[in-house]
This record gives sequence, C-alpha cells and structure tokens, in this order.
Amino acid sequence: MKDLEQFLAPYKQAVDELKIKLRGMRTQFDLDSSHSPIEFVTGRVKPIASILDKANQKGIPLDQLEEKIQDIAGLRIMCQFVEDIHLVVGLLRNRNDFKIIEERDYISHKKTSGYRSYHVVIQYPVQTIYGEKNILAEIQIRTLAMNFWATIEHSLNYKYKGDFPSDIQIRLKRAAEAAFRLDEEMSLIRGEIQEAQAYFTRNKELKQQEKNNKA
Ligand code: GTP
Ligand code: MG
Repeated sequence: MKDLEQFLAPYKQAVDELKIKLRGMRTQFDLDSSHSPIEFVTGRVKPIASILDKANQKGIPLDQLEEKIQDIAGLRIMCQFVEDIHLVVGLLRNRNDFKIIEERDYISHKKTSGYRSYHVVIQYPVQTIYGEKNILAEIQIRTLAMNFWATIEHSLNYKYKGDFPSDIQIRLKRAAEAAFRLDEEMSLIRGEIQEAQAYFTRNKELKQQEKNNKA
C-alpha cells in the first residue's frame, strides 16, 4: 500500500499544480476583462482500482504503468465555444512548463460512440526531494455541451459496462449530434453572446468601483 501511495504521490502533486496553473489562465483573462476561453478546470488522479483494471484490460505489465497509462493524472478544461478549444490548445502549446507529446483531435474525428473532445498528452516535470520526475498527464479540452454528453454517457457506461442495449446506443449517438448542433448554433451567435458578457462584466466593475469610492 505504501508503495502505491509513493507511486501516486508525484501524480497528485502534478494534478494540484496543473489545476492552479490552468485556473490561473482563466484569472488572467478575467483581469484583462476579455472573454476567457476557459470556463472551468477540473482534475483528478485515477483511482488505484481503475489503474489496475485498465492495466489488466490492456495487458500492461505493472512495471510499465508510467509509460503506458497516460491518464493517471487527468485534467479537464471546459470551454463555452468550440473556437475556444483551439485557442486553449494554442495557449498550451506556447507554455514552457511542460511538453506536449501527443494530440488527439476527437472533434474533427469523433469516436464511434459519439464522443467529442480534444486530448493533449503532456510530459510534466514534478520537483521532488529525490530530484525531478517527469510524469505523463492527459488534458481533455471540451465544450460544456461535449462535457454534458460525456458525463451522461460515462455514467450509463458504468451501469451497462460498455454493453449498451441498441436503443440506448442509438439515442446516445443522436444526443451526441444534438449536443454538437447546440455547439454549432452557439458558435453562430458567439459574437452577440460575448458582447453581452463583456457588457455585464463592465457594469459589475463600474458598480464595484462606485462602491469602493464611497467607502
Ligand atoms: P483509454 O484506454 O480510455 O485511455 O483509451 P485511449 O488510450 O485510446 O485514449 P482515448 O484518448 O481514446 O481516451 C481517453 C479518455 O477519453 C478516457 O479515459 C475518457 O475519459 C475519454 N473518452 C474516450 N472515449 C470516450 C467515450 O466514448 N465516452 C466517454 N464518456 N469518454 C470517453
Ligand atoms: Mg488513454
């Protein structure tokens, strides 16, 4: 048990650090009063049982978990618009604190399940008392609509263990297309929405300023 805890420690640290760093990007956009391509960020370390399950399913020897399982450390960046995803990927490519080693575009190439997201696998250096340790982490970038679908599908997957009754499978695929059409519709009125959001932000700032002046 102690061994596993030790094995997971750098992954925990990486997830904690990356959550702060990615959330920091959102804060910077807010300070700038410009539309943030990042809505919110989540992160998790894969539970031991899931790591062992996955290794078992894929025939990965336990001494190769570090190289073969890329999502022991997992981050998710949620965006309002599909366009934001490409902006975020550009920002990630420009960073100097990790190296992107793989990109998977499941938006241009959706999975047969209907799943859409943009995946980036990074090599992230964690500083430990034994020196620097490079670990892999997977960042999934998706819209709120893609996240809604993936979350629902994931819970059904849990229930049916991937073996969906065919009517449910068909409905899920239709729901995935509906979510995608929602994203397309939102993109079409993106300028309008962002103007309204900027207006509210400006108003809030002005009111805050007035309050500060009175105090
Ligand atoms: P994994 O064995 O799941 O890692 O597959 P992979 O190595 O081919 O990686 P892939 O990029 O396909 O998927 C990695 C992660 O993407 C998964 O752990 C899920 O979080 C997510 N994902 C991929 N496909 C689906 C899907 O059909 N439905 C949902 N809900 N999530 C998915
Ligand atoms: Mg994977």
